[in-house]
Amino acid sequence: MNKKRIGVLISGRGSNMSSLIEACKSPDFPAEISVVISNRPKAAGLEIAASKGIKTLAINHRNYDTRAAFETDLHQALMDAQVELICNAGFLRLLTAEFVDKWHDRQLNIHPSLLPSFKGLHTHQRALDAGVKITGCTVHLVRTDMDAGPIIAQAAVAVEHDDNEQTLAARVLAAEHQLYPHALKMFALGEAFVKNEMIEIRAKAQQTPSSKLPAIFSPPLDKV
Ligand code: GRF
Repeated sequence: MNKKRIGVLISGRGSNMSSLIEACKSPDFPAEISVVISNRPKAAGLEIAASKGIKTLAINHRNYDTRAAFETDLHQALMDAQVELICNAGFLRLLTAEFVDKWHDRQLNIHPSLLPSFKGLHTHQRALDAGVKITGCTVHLVRTDMDAGPIIAQAAVAVEHDDNEQTLAARVLAAEHQLYPHALKMFALGEAFVKNEMIEIRAKAQQTPSSKLPAIFSPPLDKV
């Protein structure tokens, strides 16, 4: 199988990265991780990736005077590793239009909300403050506007009446770990593809159970 070469960008603990590493172990998964790069040298995810035999790099943004200079080295490192697709996984650095354009339709991101709601940081507290009953996570293509771009896949998570930021974040994170490999697989196989700035899903993929996440109702239907 011709596997797509993935570069994973992280800044922290790397749990989504770990879920991608796990998925890539499967012989029939259509992607493999060529390099994991962190802009923070102390990111816990770097050690996790290295312990699994994956090439890691720290490119500390603090060592650069400009975003452009940082991104030049980031781009070069990705090219050196012959990366075909970037997966941002908790990468906390805004990227310039120049970099984003270089990787147009070749850079994915995961965000812990149902976009376009709750872009940016502190999504779970903001979802709780807004009183939404359903939240979730989104995998989308990266565009110059933050947390925007064609949506590849989403998973819904019910907000419980006694949730706090931590409990809600934990349940959404568990959904993220399932969603990201699922979205990457569909995109790498070409089952999810861009058309007119939207993602279309090939009919074949729509029929497979893995592409059908159950609708979640909150409060649960049988309790109303
Ligand atoms: C995740 O919630 C992801 O959606 C967001 O940042 C968090 C990263 O967590 N972009 P991890 O480093 O993958 O554990």
